[in-house]
Amino acid sequence: MRGTSPHPASPKEPSRRFCVAPMMDWTTSHYRFLARLLSRNALLYTEMVTTGALIHGDTERFLRHDSTEYPLALQLGGGDPQELAHCSKLAEQFGFDEVNLNVGCPSDRVQNNMIGACLMGHPDKVADSVRAMIEATDLPVTVKHRIGIDGRESWDDLCEFVEKVSEAGCRTFIVHARIAILEGLSPKENRDIPPLKYDWVYRLKTKYPHLEIIINGGIKTFEECDEHLRHTDGVMLGREAYHNPWLLAGVDPAFFGQSAPVETRHQTLRAMFPFIQSELERGVFLTHISRHLLGLFHGQPGGRQFRRYISENAHKTGAGLEVIQTALEKVREPENRAIAEA
Ligand SMILES: Cc1cc2nc3c(=O)[nH]c(=O)nc-3n(C[C@H](O)[C@H](O)[C@H](O)COP(=O)(O)O)c2cc1C
Repeated sequence: MRGTSPHPASPKEPSRRFCVAPMMDWTTSHYRFLARLLSRNALLYTEMVTTGALIHGDTERFLRHDSTEYPLALQLGGGDPQELAHCSKLAEQFGFDEVNLNVGCPSDRVQNNMIGACLMGHPDKVADSVRAMIEATDLPVTVKHRIGIDGRESWDDLCEFVEKVSEAGCRTFIVHARIAILEGLSPKENRDIPPLKYDWVYRLKTKYPHLEIIINGGIKTFEECDEHLRHTDGVMLGREAYHNPWLLAGVDPAFFGQSAPVETRHQTLRAMFPFIQSELERGVFLTHISRHLLGLFHGQPGGRQFRRYISENAHKTGAGLEVIQTALEKVREPENRAIAEA
């Protein structure tokens, strides 16, 4: 087992040793179903849901998930303490294991509503929000943030943020190890261009050893995870866990001392068939599910044909499970256990 956290989670708390990042349009319940087949223990996060959407929109639809997805954290986007408190209560009622506040998203749309990374410029406001959330729920309340934003990017600014928010009661900080540049970079550029400064996240853990510090940004391999776990309490992977989901099949053996829940990619996909079928019967379009499966045979012989067959056929009217079944036949099934070569 890799990476022994100095902060064993209390029985109520999920382990955050290995987390899959919240990603809009990507970490949908369909992706999460796949991820959960691959690892029993990775902590999964929803896409960000804004407090406005939850309060004024179709609450049930936004919070819908399957109990098989647990442990599961709800990520909220918002800046108003009372609204965030209300939505944190909803998170608890709907059975989530954690409620997380997004202080890292740099898009213009959220900046206009004082949501996301721009809140790093307002640590008191974030602290008020966190305090209200903690009062409203027994769930762990966590914050996902950057190491800074343009104009507030010094080490002291970061420490002021962490200190104020931790004084409000937050003990878990998920830190994307780069600043967000709010003026001039798109959200996508903001995930690549500002340089990663892992050492700042390590320094946070050294300076605040009582806090749980989870590191995020640009992590791709278990070897990298091992290195980060020497300095922090947990790792969060986003894009790699999405584009190469089979990586998750190695998580339980590598980080939780357990056997892997599946042996092959084929077995995993077949285990999804009843779920896919029941979603189709509920009226879900096949593409909404199949787009999250495209990475499963990443780097495998036949993987490209698998992806191409799905891409060319899943959108057709009436497309059903047979598209996935035929696509699966394009990839050779290994005879032996093929776990965790990820
Ligand atoms: C398509 C996409 C959507 C994202 N949506 C969110 C989001 O809703 N909330 C959030 O906190 N971060 C979001 N992120 C950022 C990721 O959670 C993560 O911080 C970032 O991708 C860096 O980690 P990685 O290098 O492992 O991907 C998103 C990233 C991507 C690629």
